[in-house]
Amino acid sequence: MTSMPTIVETIEAKRDGRELTDEQIRDAVSGFTSGTVPDYQMSALLMAITLRGMTVDESIALTAAMIASGNVLNLSSIPGTKFDKHSTGGVGDKVSLAFVPIIAAAGLPIAKMSGRGLGLTGGTLDKLESINGFQVSLSAEEIVAQVRAIGACICAQTDSIAPADKLIYALRDVTGTVESIPLIASSVMSKKIAGGSDYILIDLKVGRGAFIKNITDARQLADLMQTIGESHGKKVVIELTNMNVPLGRAVGNLVEVKEAADLLRGGEVDPRLNALIIHIAQGVLDLAGSDATVQAIISSGAAWQKFTEIVEAQGGDIGAIDRWDDVVPVEVVRAETAGYVCDIDAEIVGRMAMQLGAGRAAKDDCIDPKAGVWLSAGVGEYVSAGGALAKLYGDPNEAELAATNLRRAYRVSDDHPELPPLVIDEFAIDRS
Ligand code: URA
Repeated sequence: MTSMPTIVETIEAKRDGRELTDEQIRDAVSGFTSGTVPDYQMSALLMAITLRGMTVDESIALTAAMIASGNVLNLSSIPGTKFDKHSTGGVGDKVSLAFVPIIAAAGLPIAKMSGRGLGLTGGTLDKLESINGFQVSLSAEEIVAQVRAIGACICAQTDSIAPADKLIYALRDVTGTVESIPLIASSVMSKKIAGGSDYILIDLKVGRGAFIKNITDARQLADLMQTIGESHGKKVVIELTNMNVPLGRAVGNLVEVKEAADLLRGGEVDPRLNALIIHIAQGVLDLAGSDATVQAIISSGAAWQKFTEIVEAQGGDIGAIDRWDDVVPVEVVRAETAGYVCDIDAEIVGRMAMQLGAGRAAKDDCIDPKAGVWLSAGVGEYVSAGGALAKLYGDPNEAELAATNLRRAYRVSDDHPELPPLVIDEFAIDRS
């Protein structure tokens, strides 16, 4: 008679570099979620996984166990193919704010569950909450009802979506086990698969201002996420995009909503931000077999109309967005010498925005919705000596230090720089 493997045997097996069985993985995850496996044993297992890695089969089993810890959102009463998008997070990344209304305006239903910011990367929920009244907490029934009514919602993940991931992530955050490719892949994919959509587009940010700093790791993570998604019958498209330089001009909360709103209203915005949103949204429209173009959806006013419907359906005051124009900067950072902006370090800009109050260093920190940075000069642009590089908003006590660092984030040279590519690689559905 074989006895059930104990959690200690599971930890030892991984410590010694052996492959875990589905049963061992399932028992560890369900035991931890129900409280029978304590934090110290789960921490030991997570560290063993971080050091020894996981096979593809183990990663698939881990994802399945995390999905099984909760419910899968049932979107079957919403007609049509359902799309979802996820970003691994970056500085100034407001793509979801524009992507969701564009896709919904084209008639593709989207139930977008987003997260909060931690560290230098911002979170879509914090950005939306900078609009007075905007409610991010919707029940599963409210999500389905809103998507049926207006085609889209942007909300927090419900408590029943992969609860094991939430518990495991909290432990990883304090045990040095965040940077493990199988743990990241199963964490992201368990939530996305439990979100119930048919197609999942992942914007995997790579570079100084992102969680994944190098392209080799990014490719490995992309490949694993795609394999996990396919094993659950999902179509997964992954874009590896550049996060060395902040995306667009705004870094913060209300300021990013304002920048996304300007794009949706057809205003003039940062060309790299515009190009990335068009690339990602058009890719999804093409996949869906739609003959709509993102440009036409924006210029017809349909994208802005859809954004307004989403904000109003979730209790937000759409007028709050343009009140950004009345917010006064606490400091303007000026160029010491004239030249072309050839680099802006996303990591420094992200840290300074956080310092000014736009982000949180710890999970329970409060954020100031009006804090942030506006990059007056973008990469490739010419700036004269004394011209504005950036405007800082938020805590005046942090302004001087932030200004010094912001000046360091900029590199200005006599020659017009070659701009770094926006899209580094693509993992499309039909891989050869
Ligand atoms: N985002 C997630 O949701 N999980 C990770 O592990 C890393 C980034």
